[in-house]
Amino acid sequence: MEEPTNSFPEIIGTNEKMQEVFRIMQKVVNTNSTILIKGETGTGKELIAKALHYHSKRRNAPFIAVNCSALTETLLESELFGHIKGSFTGAVVEKKGLFEAADKGTFFLDEVSEISPGLQAKLLRVLQEGTIKRVGATQDINVDVRIIAATNRILEKEVERGTFRRDLFYRICVIEVGIPPLRDKKDDIPLLAEHFLSIYTQKNDKEKTIKGMAPDTIKYLIEYDWPGNIRELEHEIERAVILSEGPHIIASDLSEKIRTGGINLKLEEIKDKTLKGVVEIYERRILTEILFELKWNKSKVAKVLGISRQALNKKVEKYDLDRRSRRG
Ligand SMILES: Nc1ncnc2c1ncn2[C@@H]1O[C@H](COP(=O)(O)OP(=O)(O)OP(=O)(O)O)[C@@H](O)[C@H]1O
Ligand SMILES: [Mg+2]
Repeated sequence: MEEPTNSFPEIIGTNEKMQEVFRIMQKVVNTNSTILIKGETGTGKELIAKALHYHSKRRNAPFIAVNCSALTETLLESELFGHIKGSFTGAVVEKKGLFEAADKGTFFLDEVSEISPGLQAKLLRVLQEGTIKRVGATQDINVDVRIIAATNRILEKEVERGTFRRDLFYRICVIEVGIPPLRDKKDDIPLLAEHFLSIYTQKNDKEKTIKGMAPDTIKYLIEYDWPGNIRELEHEIERAVILSEGPHIIASDLSEKIRTGGINLKLEEIKDKTLKGVVEIYERRILTEILFELKWNKSKVAKVLGISRQALNKKVEKYDLDRRSRRG
């Protein structure tokens, strides 16, 4: 069989869907087209954005990443575009924005669906005309940046709902790169696990102690569903490396959720319960698990679960969950 080629060696993947991702990346790496990377949390969106930059002709100029959900509208605007002195309270000195700082390089707009309507209009100008205006300034400044955006939401839906401008949407998704969730590329799990094993045995000075994974361990990793995707797998391997006494990573080095298939229930736990009661047990476990995995970042958790933050808060209250809630 022909070995698949990969021009982005830092990205592990031989799965067919990943081969398609690599093919698209290869075609667009040296163009200036805007790219939209779509994928669930932890699937490797930032890794791919960086790879596109560092394998392109722009590699010697900056790669600048901004998370659009992390700042208020005013702060984000001045971060992105800069400001002149006195343009708003707190603007005591003139400041260059990140778009200017990224000149000749790549600009990564993470969680682009979260950007406010006002900033969407300004972003559209960057994309259409290649110019920005510092907050409070009248003069346009030319910038040469390649924009890569990422989202874990279905942007089309945000367009339908009216929260994301249609014209901006078309500008952003010139090229789409869809990264499959880990549960849809389970054939990559052994490779990824080996990759992280080698990283974390090195980091923890355990290359001599740990020789590899027991076949049983890999089986558990393949069976688990990975709601937190590759990031969750990476953390699991890191943890196993730290706990393992060698010479192989064995099943008991894995966390309980992996060995029990995440949320499996035992018959004795459910035998006296109604269906509603059983569903509640499941719901509590799912919530505990995902809240833990996403470090209690409630907006991320709500997104992953496809519910509103309000609904999430109600459930957290109902099940009396807090950071110490027991998993598994
Ligand atoms: N195909 C891959 N090969 C090797 N490492 C990977 C791969 N995909 C992701 N990773 C690693 O998994 C971790 C999570 O990836 P990354 O931060 O790029 O995900 P993300 O999609 O941006 O997540 P989020 O939506 O939560 O921001 C990183 O440490 C990254 O290096
Ligand atoms: Mg990310």
